[in-house]
Amino acid sequence: MKILCFGSLNIDYTYKVEHFVQKGETISSQSLQVFSGGKGLNQSIALAKAGAEVYHAGAVGTDGGFLLRQLEEAGVNTEHVAVLDEIRTGNAIIQNDKDGDNCIILYGGANQAITREQADQVLKSFDKGDYLLLQNEINELPYIMEKAHRKGMNVILNPSPMDEKMKELPLDDVDYFLLNEVEAGQILNTGETDGEILAERLLERFPGASIVLTLGSKGSIYADREQKIHQKAYRVRAVDTTAAGDTFTGYFIAEAAAGQTPEKAMDLAARASAIAVTRAGAAPSIPWRKEVEVWRPEM
Ligand code: RIB
Repeated sequence: MKILCFGSLNIDYTYKVEHFVQKGETISSQSLQVFSGGKGLNQSIALAKAGAEVYHAGAVGTDGGFLLRQLEEAGVNTEHVAVLDEIRTGNAIIQNDKDGDNCIILYGGANQAITREQADQVLKSFDKGDYLLLQNEINELPYIMEKAHRKGMNVILNPSPMDEKMKELPLDDVDYFLLNEVEAGQILNTGETDGEILAERLLERFPGASIVLTLGSKGSIYADREQKIHQKAYRVRAVDTTAAGDTFTGYFIAEAAAGQTPEKAMDLAARASAIAVTRAGAAPSIPWRKEVEVWRPEM
């Protein structure tokens, strides 16, 4: 069983700021650091560090070589990442404030240059029973999703960052949704914010799917037709929350795909993402499985 993550690769320019810049304001940053990132890359690295067999597909420009090296160092197969001559690698401008929170501007670049030919070529290497993990930072998502579903692959969707295009996807083809309460509200077209109610409504709308709903400091909920599980969030001193959600997604899917129970998968994912929050940057903040297994909450 293989896991294919078809998703973004970004160069993250992370600016440490006292507060997020406001409309009309100019502020100085305290530092600039350049990290590997992109929701796709982060989730591939989390999957691999958790111990899964992971293949990343996507595209970078010729300036994206270090992103491929970072994936490979974590054990991710990169043979399906196209290196394009005439377009630059996607990037993110990230403000990281004194509380560790962030806000992000994306430039799609090569992430938005995926072709159907590339998708066809990549999917030839995967079979019924393999997993496909998608986020919303590349183009051609409906095509990739439909084709993988027709092949019998398990489709996992993290609809992030959420926008109107997500609602046009063949969402009935999704086997696992990993999303937060805002994304859940938007998919369901409701102003409801209560996690319990959102999880129930998601299951009513997608009865065949497994739902993982993350609720920030309130923890997370796993729900499928047979069970509902609550997972607490481990409290830590936040340095940078970037990629915490990606770490959770990668660890949860690695465990679920390996046949672990949802309880165990949720707990390991919550621990891994708690560690990620205590470290700067996106992909570099993602811990290895052996660190997660010995980690004890400090608060
Ligand atoms: O989820 C965090 C990621 O979102 C960052 O690494 C950034 O590149 C954006 O894609």
